[in-house]
Amino acid sequence: MPATWILISAFAVALLGYFISSRTVGKRNGAHLPPGPIGLPLIGNILQLRGSQHHLTLSRLRKIYGDLFRCSVFGRDIIIISSEKVARDLLDKRSTKFSGRPSAAGYSAMGLEFNTGFIGYTDTWRLHRRFYHEALRRDVVSRYHSVQLRQAHALIVNIAAQPEGYEKHLQTFSASVILSAVYGYDAVQKDDALVAMVEHVDKLIAERVFSFEVLLASGLPFLLTTPTWVPDFGVKRALSLVREVVQKTTAAPFEYTQTTLANKTGNHSMVGDILRKWEDQSPPQDTVEALKNAAFTAYTAGAETTQSTLLTFVYAMLMNPEVQARAQEQIDAVVQAKRLPDLNDRLFLPLVDAILRETIRWMPSAPIGLPRSTTEDDVYEGYFIRKGSFVVVNIWEIFHDATRYTDPMSFNPNRFLRPDGTLTDDTSYTMIFGFGRRVCPGQYFADNSLWLVVASMLAMFNISKAKDDEGEEMEPDPHWVSGITQ
Ligand code: HEM
Repeated sequence: MPATWILISAFAVALLGYFISSRTVGKRNGAHLPPGPIGLPLIGNILQLRGSQHHLTLSRLRKIYGDLFRCSVFGRDIIIISSEKVARDLLDKRSTKFSGRPSAAGYSAMGLEFNTGFIGYTDTWRLHRRFYHEALRRDVVSRYHSVQLRQAHALIVNIAAQPEGYEKHLQTFSASVILSAVYGYDAVQKDDALVAMVEHVDKLIAERVFSFEVLLASGLPFLLTTPTWVPDFGVKRALSLVREVVQKTTAAPFEYTQTTLANKTGNHSMVGDILRKWEDQSPPQDTVEALKNAAFTAYTAGAETTQSTLLTFVYAMLMNPEVQARAQEQIDAVVQAKRLPDLNDRLFLPLVDAILRETIRWMPSAPIGLPRSTTEDDVYEGYFIRKGSFVVVNIWEIFHDATRYTDPMSFNPNRFLRPDGTLTDDTSYTMIFGFGRRVCPGQYFADNSLWLVVASMLAMFNISKAKDDEGEEMEPDPHWVSGITQ
């Protein structure tokens, strides 16, 4: 059968399924599907959701459809949440129903089916969370302080030696600090092969995770198995390229830790500490596989998000020199220009924390978080949410709600400070790490890494605009690109 006919038949079957499903399960017990933009038959709203900067598209739609609305792609509902109350009601309080992840065929095609961030609400996921709990929970992350401090100091040395390469140095810091914590791997500061691998895989995943190819493969999974002569819009090739890189990158650092353990060397690390508990016994193969995948997730989830937050911090300081000067004054008063700040100084440097909170709020690095999916039907405030719906929280919109944050587009750390200069109780910035049972397990580690870099950079450098040949300041021209992070 010619390729076009195969495609037309498949579209027709999917179209029929779409109409049957939307007619029969569009409401339950008087509850209706949430409102939302009207889509095209079969493909739904995919064209409206194409492109980057999804948070801005979704923010525009919120103005029309409210805090809970629905888009649809190939008959699959995508529920968009745009208020903290709805996010807490559903993702925190009803977490048994809202803790799934979309089991999209597109993710499996990229080799991410074993990645914690993409596996469903299953026993394997619980095992991964146990590993993170052992290694990264709030009361144990202090075991990484010395590694984080060492990496922050290496970053300062690198920037001092080559300030114009700050972007690359922040990227190296973000990858190295996680490689140290997760695998006990001490990266060399320049051109480290493993760091380069992490950076590459991170970029690929971030670009592809909400991409057209993934949406298409998830809506029309047969595209992944058609013979090569059937047109597939480049989906198979795009996703299998990611798969190859993911497989290579999962194995390499894990083998490094195994070797150091066998040689009785190696630093403290999540993988090393967990494997060490087995002492002379070999851990079961499925435990080893789960640990390998959990570790891979940790570094891919942590590197890009950390780097992106730090780049935003640099931009915020460029544009707000008076805030920078006030923070430097506060730091100088505490460290007396004798040393770099460390985490023991945190209580005495509220402005540094306020700058970090405002950086996260102003330009959140993960503006729509990671999509969830529902594992059961549910009804919320008269709206019917179907089992298997994707759920997205538009963190960007929550952080730019003018009724909560006055003049939300301006960078103003004072909103997190009381008149006496102490920090307010507003910890809403932690929403950047998600909600409920799937909240980011690396949040305490990430928070410490970010604080250390922000404090150290403020202590050591004046962040200012570059000058042109005539000595005139040049205006920065940031480009916000978004995938998972922006
Ligand atoms: C600024 C830094 C970071 C940000 C903004 C961030 C943000 C997030 C977000 C929004 C999620 C999804 C949560 C949800 O579904 O509600 C997540 C999940 C995750 N994060 Fe982070 N993260 C950061 C750093 C880290 C670090 C440093 C690690 C590990 C060392 C890490 C490990 C993970 C893992 C394993 C998941 C998947 C959790 C699951 O699905 O159960 N993250 N992160």
